[in-house]
Amino acid sequence: MFDKALQRKGGMNKIALQVQRAFVERFGVAPDRLIRAPGRVNLIGEHTDYSGGFVMPLALEQALWIAIRPRSDKSVVIHSLDYIDSIELKLLDPKVHLKGWPEYLKGVVWAMQEEKWSLSGWEGVMAGDVPQGAGLASSAALETAFIRAFAEVSRISWEPKIAAKLAQRAESEWVGISCGIMDQLISACGVSGHALFIDCRNLDILPVALPEGVRVIVLDSKTRRGLVDSLYNERHSQCEEASRILGKSLLRDVSLPELDAQSTRLTPLLYRRVRHVITENQRVQHAVEAMHANDLNLLGQLMQESHTSLRDNFEVTNSALDDIVECALAAPGCLGARMTGAGFGGCAVALVKTEQEIDFGKSVSNCYFKKTGLDPNIISCIPTDGASSHEPIAVK
Ligand code: GLA
Repeated sequence: MFDKALQRKGGMNKIALQVQRAFVERFGVAPDRLIRAPGRVNLIGEHTDYSGGFVMPLALEQALWIAIRPRSDKSVVIHSLDYIDSIELKLLDPKVHLKGWPEYLKGVVWAMQEEKWSLSGWEGVMAGDVPQGAGLASSAALETAFIRAFAEVSRISWEPKIAAKLAQRAESEWVGISCGIMDQLISACGVSGHALFIDCRNLDILPVALPEGVRVIVLDSKTRRGLVDSLYNERHSQCEEASRILGKSLLRDVSLPELDAQSTRLTPLLYRRVRHVITENQRVQHAVEAMHANDLNLLGQLMQESHTSLRDNFEVTNSALDDIVECALAAPGCLGARMTGAGFGGCAVALVKTEQEIDFGKSVSNCYFKKTGLDPNIISCIPTDGASSHEPIAVK
């Protein structure tokens, strides 16, 4: 049967094939299933999810793949082709001391067992092409892929929203990053050809088709900043502190007139943080309307305003992100651009007229290189489905 997720740019998905082949080499038999969980780019709605607000991400072609086969001994054995590293985790004793990417495995095992999932073991080989630490949710892809694999071998029905909540719990309570739900939700629930308008309070999802004639383009500034986790947690705490002072359980429920009427109760810094969240939520709602009306100029303008607010009020950009956004806005065919993800380095996202995509890329590369001496990585995005499980590829 034709399986779209296994295809890529006209050919077979190379990573799916690679993990399948490596599985056969390592374990001497074919895998039972191929598991896929994508990274994401967020079109608009940044640093709003943990305040119960609105976001609009899309799932990327770039994904994590795991070739898997069940085991009967209640342990998980995984080889990572990217880290050239293998681990074995006993499900009944998940306290084994592991560092780095295995913490995500331990975290999801812990979260699923907290929810009384009865887990079976499996062995697998994994690899992915979601750039790491770039703000494209490579860790959410990892968590979601692990949960998808466990659901498969443990014969637990796949409920994407439940999986996303488990993954978020693993990341915040085990790994220690008090993230919102956006990344895990889009990795689990993505819809091909669409961005998802998500209400992060009740997890309602509305798929919004990407308008005709435009491309979503990711611009990796190639800068990564240390301490992102603690800076991220600090922003989250600031939002919680502000909502306490303003007497609401979530900033999502504060309106601009309410904020201005109570502004003297907040420090100037907290005022700026809240102002970003309120205006960003408004921008996401306007962006949905703009997409439905095919008003690309308005959509682009909202993205630009989002960047300005993230730079000046939420203070999560760095000079590389400001530079690359400036280069994008000056490039041919660009309708709008902004940083995307947690910030402090990583990627920007731009909306570009399809017919000018190539010129746009050249212009941004030149401009950004002149400013910083760095070569940006430019990725043209195709929105894909969320996490999935596939028959292995029929190899001749
Ligand atoms: C990270 C978090 C998300 C979200 C974004 C910022 O990606 O994991 O929950 O808060 O930052 O919008």
